[in-house]
Amino acid sequence: MELRKIKGFADILPPESILYNRIEETAKKVFALYMYQNIRVPIMEYTTLFTRGIGISTDIVQKEMFTMVDRKGRSITLRPEATAGIARAYIESGIAGIVKAYTIGPMFRYERPQKGRMRQFHQINCECIGSDSPVLDAEMITMLMHYIRELGIEDVSLFLNTLGCTACRPQYKKALIAYIEDTCREDLCETCQERLYTNPLRILDCKVPQCVAATQNIPTITEYICSECSEHFAVVQSMLRVFGISYTLEPRLVRGLDYYIRTTFEVVSNHIGAQSSLAGGGRYDGLIHTLGGKDVSAVGFACGVERLVLLMDTPTIPRVAYYIAPLCDEALVCAHAMATTLRSLGVVAECAYEVQSIKQALRYAGKHAQYCVLLGEDEIRNSMYSVKNLHTGVQEQYDKDTFIAFVQQSFHGMLE
Ligand code: HAM
Repeated sequence: MELRKIKGFADILPPESILYNRIEETAKKVFALYMYQNIRVPIMEYTTLFTRGIGISTDIVQKEMFTMVDRKGRSITLRPEATAGIARAYIESGIAGIVKAYTIGPMFRYERPQKGRMRQFHQINCECIGSDSPVLDAEMITMLMHYIRELGIEDVSLFLNTLGCTACRPQYKKALIAYIEDTCREDLCETCQERLYTNPLRILDCKVPQCVAATQNIPTITEYICSECSEHFAVVQSMLRVFGISYTLEPRLVRGLDYYIRTTFEVVSNHIGAQSSLAGGGRYDGLIHTLGGKDVSAVGFACGVERLVLLMDTPTIPRVAYYIAPLCDEALVCAHAMATTLRSLGVVAECAYEVQSIKQALRYAGKHAQYCVLLGEDEIRNSMYSVKNLHTGVQEQYDKDTFIAFVQQSFHGMLE
C-alpha cells in the first residue's frame, strides 16, 4: 500500500513553514510585553480531563475526540484544545498567585476537513489564571488584537458577549427552552431539537438557515444576567474603549465549550470563507474547581494558526548571503572551511558538496544567493577568493583576511 498521510493531517513545508515560524515568533514577542511565560503541556491526557473540562454534551466531546485505549486499558485522548490541560497542570503543580501562560502546539479534532479546518491543527493559546477582574478580560482581548495587528492581519471583527454565571444563566436557559417550546421547536434542525434540553445555548449559534430564521426573536442573555455579571460586562466594555479596541456586541455568541462564564469573545475574518473564526476565548472561572482545584478565576483565548496563515502572504525563501562553489577537488575543503568561518561570524553561508562548473555554480547562486564565492585552481594556488555580487554582477578577488573584512563590513547589521 502506498504510504500517505492521514486525512485532515498536513505536512507543513517551506515556504509555508516560514509563516508558522513568524506566527510563533510574533506571539512570543507580543506576549512577553504582557509578561506571559511559555509553558508546554502534554498532547495526550486522560479522557476524563476533557469530558469533565470541556463538557460531556459539547460537539468536541461527543463527536470530535481522538480517543484510544492505552496498554493498561485506560482511555486517553489527543488534546482537542489546551485550556483543560493547562488547568490540570496548574492544579497539579500547586502554583499560587496569578499565572500568565502561553502555549503553542498541535490540537486534534475529528471534524470534516475543509479550508481552514484540519483534524490536526495548531493553536496559539494564552491563559491567565488567578484574577476575576474584568480589567483582565479587557487586557486579554487587547493582547489578542495587538497580536493579530502585529502579524499584519487587517479587516477583522471582534465580537463580544457575556454568558452570565452559574447564578443567572439557569434562568436564561429556562427562558430559552420555554420560548422554543412555545414558538419554534418543530422548525429546528434535528441536532438542535436534540440539544434543546442538554445544551440549549448552542442553538443560538447553529448556522443551519432554518434554525437561524426560527430563532430570530429569541430572548437574549442580556435580559437575564444578574447585577454582578452586568457590572462585570460593563467594566470589560469600558476598559476596551480605554484601550482603543472596537467591538460588536453579539448576544448569540455562545462558543462550543462548556466552561465559559461571563465574558466570551471571538475574532472573525471576512476573507477566509466558512471557517472564519480566527480566535476565540473567554472567562472560565469554574473550570479549575470542576477539575478538583481551588475556586480560581481565569480567562484565555486560542488563535487558529492555519487560519492566520490563510490571511498572510506566502513568503519567498530568503537568499543565502554567500554561496561558496568549489570548482576543483582541491577547493572542497577550503570552501567548506570558509563556510564554517562565515557562519561563526553570524553570516548565512551555503557550500556545494561536490565540485561544480562555473556555469552550474552561477546558475544556482543566481537564484538563491546574494554573493557567489568561486574557488577554482587559480584561487587555491594564489590563496584568493573570487567573489561575485549577484545583484550588480561585479566580481572581485580577495585574500582571506580582506574577504572576511569585506563580509564583516557588508553584513555589519547582522553581526551586531
Ligand atoms: P475554540 O474556539 O474551540 O477555542 O478554538 C480556538 C480557535 O482554534 C478557533 O477560533 C479556530 O481559529 C481554531 N480552530 C478550532 N478548530 C479548528 C480546526 N479543526 N482546524 C483549524 N483551526 C481550528 C478553544 O480551543 C479554547 N480552548 C480557547 C480558550 C483558551 N478559551 C479560554 N482559553
